[in-house]
Amino acid sequence: MSIAYSNYQSGFANEFATEVLPGVLPEGRNSPQRVAYGLYAEQLSGTAFTAPRHANRRSWLYRIRPAVVHGAFKLLDQARFHNRFDETPTSPNQLRWDPFPLPTAATDFIDGLFTIAGNGGAAAQAGVGIHIYAANRSMQGRFFYDADAELLIVPQQGRLRIATELGVLEIEPQEVALIPRGIRFRVELPDAAQGSASAAGAGSAGAAGEARGYVCENFGSSLRLPDLGPIGSNGLANARDFLTPVAAYEDVDGNFELVAKFQGVLWSASIDHSPLDVVGWHGNHAPCKYDLRRFNTIGSISYDHPDPSLFTVLTSPSDTPGTANMDFAIFPPRWLIAENTFRPPWFHRNIASEFMGLVHGAYDAKAGGFVPGGASLHNCMSGHGPDAASFDKASAVDTTRPDHIVDTMAFMFETRAVIHPTRQALDAPQLQADYQDCWRGLKKHFDPSRKTP
Ligand SMILES: [Fe+2]
Repeated sequence: MSIAYSNYQSGFANEFATEVLPGVLPEGRNSPQRVAYGLYAEQLSGTAFTAPRHANRRSWLYRIRPAVVHGAFKLLDQARFHNRFDETPTSPNQLRWDPFPLPTAATDFIDGLFTIAGNGGAAAQAGVGIHIYAANRSMQGRFFYDADAELLIVPQQGRLRIATELGVLEIEPQEVALIPRGIRFRVELPDAAQGSASAAGAGSAGAAGEARGYVCENFGSSLRLPDLGPIGSNGLANARDFLTPVAAYEDVDGNFELVAKFQGVLWSASIDHSPLDVVGWHGNHAPCKYDLRRFNTIGSISYDHPDPSLFTVLTSPSDTPGTANMDFAIFPPRWLIAENTFRPPWFHRNIASEFMGLVHGAYDAKAGGFVPGGASLHNCMSGHGPDAASFDKASAVDTTRPDHIVDTMAFMFETRAVIHPTRQALDAPQLQADYQDCWRGLKKHFDPSRKTP
């Protein structure tokens, strides 16, 4: 099955309509007495039926079998992927991790999920789960859906082909995919050697086809584009760059597995056919992809470094106006031109909590130690900012000249609630014991007799 990006419909939160065979989509109604081609009609709602129109998400699926046709779910043991965010007291320590390891045994996307941190949960319908995935083979004969959250997938290494009920997305590092709550899908590694054993032992960094990245489970309201306020009608992430797939279906019978994430744990059921059997659909509860390199980065053209909210790609609003359950922000290549200004992100303490990852290159507030595939966590009111080397460099730079930051793509999951690291993340050998040392070189410069620094 091929996909054609030129056929992708563009937009975000619009009403899409796509069918593989002509006339699948019924005219003038959603649920006719009999659907064309002998298909079943099924509604998939991602918001309350009565959610305001601008926030309402639902799609009508016309499929070979309805989603209810599968065996009974039984608990699935994948202990590294969970939502237990109260396992251990959460310290206010600044935390940073080296890149998480790639698998040595054959591991698919589901088996390769490792929970780093999170807050809230599925029961509260608020908060986030933050995970790393590291895989070396495609999901074979198994499909997955997350009833607890929508999934924001941020690849750091390796391409992914995500075959969903509503069509196929292909993403590479510096692109992201957004899979709505409940959508069933299979993650393939198009560049990996396939087969159960062929990838075994290929654990070295950069081996062909291995994939690693970050996943944010958003338990709260669906991610959407932020309002732009005085910025105007353009800027930041533009709506037409979010690409939603055309319909594509599989008519395949076999002994397959359907894995569900439900109330914090995984469940497994047998299914005798591919659930990716939707021949046409319309609506707006649909997956999409976005190329982070298309972000229209806006910054100061006079002085000072703006608040990082100016880098927001997508936001999950909470019930409190202006206070997001979660923001997804990025720090892409950009020009720094603010004059007589300390240009990197300043020293700060926030009420919000910040999980950061690095997809590509280097991050301008850290001279070392924060590398692609790694992560950092700065929680509510814990001080952080540039390391000593970055502070010294930025304090001495000639700010009458512009600085072009290239080869970088950092991101942040910023949340309203404190982000609790899991026990396995705190026990991981990748946790840097010496992270605080990067600020130890910040010397006292205060001299009451000398006003000019
Ligand atoms: Fe910060």
